[in-house]
Parts: sequence; structure tokens; C-alpha cells
Amino acid sequence: MKPTVELNIDGKPLELPTIVGSEGEVGIDISSLRNATGCITLDPGYGNTGSCESAITFIDGEKGILRYRGYDIAELAEKSTFIETSYLLIYGSLPTRTQLVEFSNMLSENQMLHEGMRFHFENFPATAHPMAILSAMINAASSYHPNLISKRESRFPYHAARLISQVRTIAAFSYRKAHGLPTIYPKTNLKYTANFLHMMFSPYPGEDCELKPEIVKALDLIFLLHADHEQNCSTSTVRMVASSRANLFASASAGVCALWGPLHGGANQAVLEMLEEIHKEGDDGTKFLNEVKNKTGNRRLMGFGHRVYKNFDPRAVIIKQQCDKVLAQLHKSDPLLDIAKKLEEIALHDEYFISRKLYPNVDFYSGIIMRAIGIPMDMFTVMFAIGRMPGWIANFKEVMEDPDSRIARPRQIYTGETLRSYTPLEARA
Ligand code: CMC
Repeated sequence: MKPTVELNIDGKPLELPTIVGSEGEVGIDISSLRNATGCITLDPGYGNTGSCESAITFIDGEKGILRYRGYDIAELAEKSTFIETSYLLIYGSLPTRTQLVEFSNMLSENQMLHEGMRFHFENFPATAHPMAILSAMINAASSYHPNLISKRESRFPYHAARLISQVRTIAAFSYRKAHGLPTIYPKTNLKYTANFLHMMFSPYPGEDCELKPEIVKALDLIFLLHADHEQNCSTSTVRMVASSRANLFASASAGVCALWGPLHGGANQAVLEMLEEIHKEGDDGTKFLNEVKNKTGNRRLMGFGHRVYKNFDPRAVIIKQQCDKVLAQLHKSDPLLDIAKKLEEIALHDEYFISRKLYPNVDFYSGIIMRAIGIPMDMFTVMFAIGRMPGWIANFKEVMEDPDSRIARPRQIYTGETLRSYTPLEARA
């Protein structure tokens, strides 16, 4: 039974329909509100606003639940791979063996960049942030595939595979360029994550790096855990751009820009910077946390807190276990991990964090694993972008396939000047 909602504005009642999701969450459909009453709703930061109906990912922030297409994240983390999960997100069900082989083959066939794209890399300054390069190059890639723009449906599987595959090639090329290293091309006999590590870390063409299975597994898991997260800032950006019927690559490129910010995907880099700073100052985290709580210098405990998770982030639980495992397997100890553990221990028992429901999020430990693997700090958010690509693609597809999809165009409450007359320059004070 759907609940009904009655709104009363200045004594005039308006009945609003509701929508109940498959997990029981209720949305009040206000699409008739402005026409019927002249009013709009105001929800800065969209904490109470559903922007769409979606069948891709389910989150219950109170219970710490994350499911892709109905599958619990912990089960996928244990049993699946990033590529199989990518297929699941984009096409809605786990692939059969044949579908998985076809999908993998399509990824391999599309992993090379158009040779012309190599020249674009040359013109970025050595100081360019890899996220700037990634966003620009994904957009540039669309110009090498003109049929992207018109043919929406029939070529979609190829374009999706091309994007998933090429984002990894672009990321590795930008790393090699920034470090003055020769470009390493992908190999067709390597699987997705192993191929990425090969392009990143092989010393030079013809000399392959050693691919340790535990490292390949750890990075594959990081990609999988980041693969989708419903209507977060970057995914909403992708959907918004897609709603104007921009092409897949343009929409994903916009998603990369949104992800870059330190409150979103950039948090994994910000966590490591914060831990390094604490370490450099000889603090064990106590002084830093006092500054956070006193809001000295607007500091935040990066990697803590989430708009949706108010109990725990299930990705953080998995990644913390993986972090301990990887460091043990690599026989590495990391003073930053010790600081992170201390920060977590204090924060989880501190009134400031408890009362605000602030818990470690996925970014709190992922940076430590990536550091152990040898991925430089400024590439951390790029790793997030590689992982998030299937989620963005699935959301793009959902927008394109929705017969009721309209261009996203929020309204506003105007608070500026009311009408005034133009003052000539000589008359202005
Ligand atoms: N450290 C200290 N205080 C915090 C933190 C934090 N990490 N996060 C929130 N608060 C405080 C904030 O100062 C405010 O306090 P008060 O009520 O005294 O003003 C209160 O908690 C509510 O904060 P908010 O900014 O209104 O919360 P939000 O839901 O808008 O922000 C967030 C969510 C993730 C942006 C925020 O928690 C944050 O900045 N965290 C650090 C950055 C981070 O780790 N981001 C990665 C998120 S997970 C990856 C992803 O999906 O993007």
C-alpha cells in the first residue's frame, strides 16, 4: 500500500503521489508541485532529493548495506572480479561464461588508443595532475569515434568496452609521461588489472615487470569496491550531462572532473597527505584530532564521514582487512598505517565523531594499499575513476534507455537584486 501525502499551502490542499522502491524506501513525487502551487522545493546539497529512479545500486546508509544489482558488496568482493562486476552493473545480470568471454574480448580489442592520441599527451606540462589529463583525454577520445554522437543504441556495447578499457590505458600513459618513462602498450594476453599494472610498472618495452598475484588481486578489489555508489556527486554529474544527450565519453569526462574534488574521489589522496603531514610533525594523531574537533583551520579528518553511511561504510570494512593482508604479504610495515589505526581508534570512541555519525569511509585505507603497491599519490583518484567507470556507464545507459528521461534542469530561489536601472559609468560612486 502506497502512503499518500497531502501538502497544505496557504489553506489549499494538494495530494501528492508516492513511489515505493523495491527495498521499501518512499519518495514523494512532487513533479506536479510547481504547476499546481507555484512553489518549488529547496534542498541544498540534495540530501532529501531523489533525482531519478534507478535499478543499479542499493545503499542503506543506516544499516551499512551496499548492493550492486541486488548482490551484496561483500559477496562480490569475495567471489567476483572487477570485469565480471562491470558487466553485472552495465547489463543487469551476472554474465554467462560466453558473455564474459565476449565482454573480455571486446575489452582487449579496444584497449589501444588511437595512435593520434599519443600526441595529446606530449602537450601537457610535467606538473599536470593526472585527473586533468584523464578528463581531457577521455573527452579527446570521443573525437576519434564520430559515430559515438549519433548512434546511441547499436554501438553502445563497443563504446562502453572501449571506455572501460581505454581509461586504464590513458591512466597508465599519463603516469609514464609524468615520470619521463617510455610508453608501455597493453598486452592482449593479460587480464584487465594485470594489464594495467604491466603498463604502469614494466621498466621498458620488452622488459616486463613481475605481476604478483596478491597485488593484482588487491588492486582488482579496489576497482570492484569503487565500481558504483548510486547518486553520488560524479554519477549525478554523468547523468546530468547524459540528460542533454551528450555522448558517453563527454559524460564520463565530466564525471572525472566531479570526482577530482577532495570531498569526493580526491579524498583518497587527501587522506595520505594528511597522514604524511601528521607523521612529519611527529604527532601520533592526537594533536591533529584536537584541531579537527576545535575546527582549527577548517581541518577535517579525511577519509571519515559520508553523506549516506551513518553507521559504517561496508567498503571500508573490506578494504581495511585487505590492507592488513597486503602489507603482511609484501612484508611491509608502514608508519602511516599505524597513524591511521590510531586516528580510527580515537575517533570511533570520541563524542565529536560519534554524535555526528562519522565513520571511516572507503578512502581511509585504500590509499595505504595503493602506496604499498607503488602507485604514486597523485594517481590515487585516477584509480577511483577507473573503478567507477562501469557505474558511470550503467547510469548513462539507464538515462538513455529511459523513455521518460528529460534534460536535468533544476530551479532556484532567486535572492539577488530586484529590477534596477542601469547607471551610466560617470554617475557611479
Ligand atoms: N572530519 C571532521 N568533521 C566532519 C567530517 C570529517 N571528515 N565530516 C563531517 N564533519 C562534521 C562537519 O564539520 C559538520 O559538523 P557541524 O555539525 O559541527 O558543523 C558535520 O560533521 C556534518 O558535516 P557535513 O559537511 O554537513 O556532512 P556532509 O554529509 O555534507 O559531508 C562528506 C559528507 C563526506 C563530504 C564529509 O563527511 C567530509 O568532508 N568527509 C571528509 C572527506 C571524505 O573523506 N570524502 C570521501 C567520501 S567517501 C568517497 C566518496 O563516495 O566520494
